[in-house]
Amino acid sequence: MDQTKFPSEGPIGIGLLGCGTVGSGVVKLLLSHAEDYAHRIGRPLALRKVAVRDAARGREGLDLAHHLTTDHHAVTRDPATQIVVELMGGVDPAKRLILDAIAHGKHIVTANKEVIARHGDEIYAAAREAGVAVFIEGTVGGGIPIIMPLKASLAANRIRQIAGIINGTTNYILTMMSQHGQGLDEALLEAQRLGYAEADPTADVEAYDAAFKIAILASTFFSHRVRIEDVYREGITHLTAADIQYARELGYVIKLLGVARREEGHLQVRVHPTMVPRTHPLAHINGVMNAIAVQGDAVGEVMFSGPGAGMMPTASAVLGDVLNIAANLEAPNPLITCSHEGAGDVAPIDELETQFYIRLIAHDKPGVIGTIGQSCGQFGISILSMVQKGEQHGLAEIVLVTHRVKEKHMRAALADMADHPTIQSIASVIRVEGLK
Ligand code: HSE
Repeated sequence: MDQTKFPSEGPIGIGLLGCGTVGSGVVKLLLSHAEDYAHRIGRPLALRKVAVRDAARGREGLDLAHHLTTDHHAVTRDPATQIVVELMGGVDPAKRLILDAIAHGKHIVTANKEVIARHGDEIYAAAREAGVAVFIEGTVGGGIPIIMPLKASLAANRIRQIAGIINGTTNYILTMMSQHGQGLDEALLEAQRLGYAEADPTADVEAYDAAFKIAILASTFFSHRVRIEDVYREGITHLTAADIQYARELGYVIKLLGVARREEGHLQVRVHPTMVPRTHPLAHINGVMNAIAVQGDAVGEVMFSGPGAGMMPTASAVLGDVLNIAANLEAPNPLITCSHEGAGDVAPIDELETQFYIRLIAHDKPGVIGTIGQSCGQFGISILSMVQKGEQHGLAEIVLVTHRVKEKHMRAALADMADHPTIQSIASVIRVEGLK
């Protein structure tokens, strides 16, 4: 390591790329806890330049006049800055600026899930080459410590499975549907009114946000990086009040779950609505809270939960990374840096073996149940339970739960049923996780 880049005494310079909500939280913490941080790492942290698009915008009443600049290179190339905190979000120009900062010998802290999920490979390779660290605690689970505890405190384990509620907006919507009987549209409007959901909620409700996060967790804790294109993604927009109600009757709660699992010879990485047993701790995570259950071969299952977003919780994660780098400035701890190369072999969703909940609308005629049984039998699917929930205008609603079955066999059986004249429609298909 070039000692001139990282002087061993004097203040450690921190530069910011972007200063929106989380950035303002980071500055607030950095200024208000300055003495405490200096005491903990033995040197003060000094806020240097803060690059923003609009320098005139108000920022939580912070006086940043001497720090603000619209020139991003004033941060990425500042000789007195050792750690660059990127909080711009999105890929462009964030990726370009992160790489520029790395090329100028800066350590990186980012909360930008999209740039890490899409371009982590390139960013980590550049960082390895330059001998600097890239820390990403703020990318997943907001204020919940997950990356560092798994890398450091659970370092002795082989991580078998990570399953989590990693999107607060959808968890809020599902909680309102399940506990207050709201419909999806009503719950979404309420989430927007409270500022949880964006005006365009696509990234949350279609699970793009959660897909980035589970790709990052899988890439970080399995032995290869996971390409975002290999992550199976399904949002919550097709869920109905009836599914939520029947899930409850069957002893489950529907959650949008990100799941990453290490299997023989391949990885499973996916995000979709999932029926979680009511007895599992994840079923009790409500509102905008996030939680991540991790299975390690030595520790068994541990769960991390807390605020998955927000100014100060995310700032807590970001500054935790800054302090960890600052404390090991000249020789980043190899346990908590990333050395994975190459893309992992992620199995297609067709190969997933899981239980299914199916809701069908059928003509209330003799032989309907036989048809369903035959379609399932043909593809080796064993039915765990099946009930007819009632009849209206000659149509019956039939709910069934299967034993574990390959996704491709379930799809084939459903296509077979859909072809049958007595089956009017397949209203819902939801995967059921035992989380064992
Ligand atoms: N939109 C995200 C959520 C927060 O609802 O959890 C930022 O990751």
